Amino acid sequence: MKKQTLIVTCLIMAISLRYTVLGLCPIRCQCNEERLVVICDGAGLDVVPITLNPDLRELHLSKNSIKGIMAAFSVYHNLEYLDMTNNQLVALGRKNFQLQEKLHILLLGHNMISSLHRSTFDGLSGLQILKIAGNFIRELPDGVFTELVSLEVLDLSENSIDTISRDAFMGLESLKILLLKDNKLGHVPTSSFSTISHVLSIDLGLNNFPILPDNGFFNLVSLEKLKLDSCGIREIQRNAFKGLENLIYLLLQDNLLDSIPTKAFPYLKKLLELSIGQNNMKTIQSKSFEGLINMQTITINSAPYLERIESEAFVPNARLQHVILNHNKKLKYIDRNAFTSLTLLRSVSLRGNDFQTFIKETLPWSDLERFDLRDNPLTCNCSLSWLLHQLQTRNYSDAFDVDFTHIRCENPPVLRDLTLKGLTIDDLGCHEHQTQKILTWTFAAIGVLLVATLVVVLWYRQRFANDLKIKCNTSIPESHRYRLDNHLRGASSPEQEWVVKIGRDPFPGRLV
Ligand SMILES: *[C@@H]1O[C@H](CO)[C@@H](O)[C@H](O)[C@H]1NC(C)=O
Ligand SMILES: *[C@@H]1O[C@H](CO)[C@@H](O)[C@H](O)[C@H]1NC(C)=O
Repeated sequence: MKKQTLIVTCLIMAISLRYTVLGLCPIRCQCNEERLVVICDGAGLDVVPITLNPDLRELHLSKNSIKGIMAAFSVYHNLEYLDMTNNQLVALGRKNFQLQEKLHILLLGHNMISSLHRSTFDGLSGLQILKIAGNFIRELPDGVFTELVSLEVLDLSENSIDTISRDAFMGLESLKILLLKDNKLGHVPTSSFSTISHVLSIDLGLNNFPILPDNGFFNLVSLEKLKLDSCGIREIQRNAFKGLENLIYLLLQDNLLDSIPTKAFPYLKKLLELSIGQNNMKTIQSKSFEGLINMQTITINSAPYLERIESEAFVPNARLQHVILNHNKKLKYIDRNAFTSLTLLRSVSLRGNDFQTFIKETLPWSDLERFDLRDNPLTCNCSLSWLLHQLQTRNYSDAFDVDFTHIRCENPPVLRDLTLKGLTIDDLGCHEHQTQKILTWTFAAIGVLLVATLVVVLWYRQRFANDLKIKCNTSIPESHRYRLDNHLRGASSPEQEWVVKIGRDPFPGRLV
């Protein structure tokens, strides 16, 4: 009773003051009469001040303890911007913004609003941005936004929405961005999307969609950006992305996929960027992204089980420019043909993986502008001498002035934590390596020589022995001689051959 009387009194005061003093500025508020802006952020208010200049255009009331709005704003017809973020609003009532035709931005985030009524936003035909994130809304009834024909951004993140009626988004003819992140949706609200087929960006992250069903986004033909991170997705059906013919960016980070959903990709012909880390795949198979013919950037970060990138994994993604594979704790193998024929590749980031070494032929170095291999357990030995050379001679620049070249060694222990770039070929044991090589070759040569000598020696010994034998033959007794003669006549025994050869040349006629 008292409160109401007070409000009425204040209203009368405000109206009577309209053309007189413009400065009834509450304590701890800043009132700019010239720009018609009042800032009362954190001013300890528990009601909306109604004694302000009625021509007010901007009202900042965040971080107060305001519990209700009632008809408070009917005083301020010219309001364009209203911020009531972080208050204690429990409900918005009905038709409380009916006179706020000029309002462009309405911020109601982080209050305790639990329901929206069909007529809550009546009158807000000029509203462009509505943010109600961080409340307790459970349901979006039919027609709740019908009058918001100019609305471009609708932020309903961090609520408890589990039900979206079929016609909930009706009337949102200008909507571009819809944020439904962190709610309790148990399935993709396909039918509700049919009235907003013109929307450009939807964030559905942190909801719960174990299966992305066929045709789930069928109506969203204009959609360019879709976020489906942290949605517990285990399966993506083959036609799940059907209709998303204009999609440019897809976020599938942090789900439960066991493999890359290759078969669902061919609908995404215009996709430029895919982010699919933090899933359960162990390998990236050959041609995993085959359908994404225009993909320019791929990000696979923090995939806990990812161990291998197989040959031709990024074939035929000929437009690929940026590959980001960071913090995959088990990733230690990239096939040297994984990036085959990617002529446009410009930056590769392999930070925080499990690489101990890296093969030069894996990447097209001449075209690479950025390369990051930091935070890997690298063994700095001669096998990385090519990388040392790259780091010392090339300039892998970056727009953010981050020096990607601070690649450190983990092994051998003497080089631990030293930057590879600061080492020399000697540090990498390449000379030892060289010496070892030389020694190996020397030993091999000596070995060959020894063997050759041995062969020669043996040959001479054999020959000497044969000579002896021949000498012996000349003194073969008569009875044995007959046999030998028979042999000679009988033509083809090997024994006969040498007998003949030797008999022919050095000691001719000896056997005859
Ligand atoms: C260098 O270390 C890597 C990783 O441990 C190993 O595979 C490679 O054979 C080593 N190279 C040389 C020349 O010792
Ligand atoms: C590397 O390139 C960037 C920009 O291209 C330049 O600003 C920087 O001075 C270069 N650094 C070296 C060491 O050449």
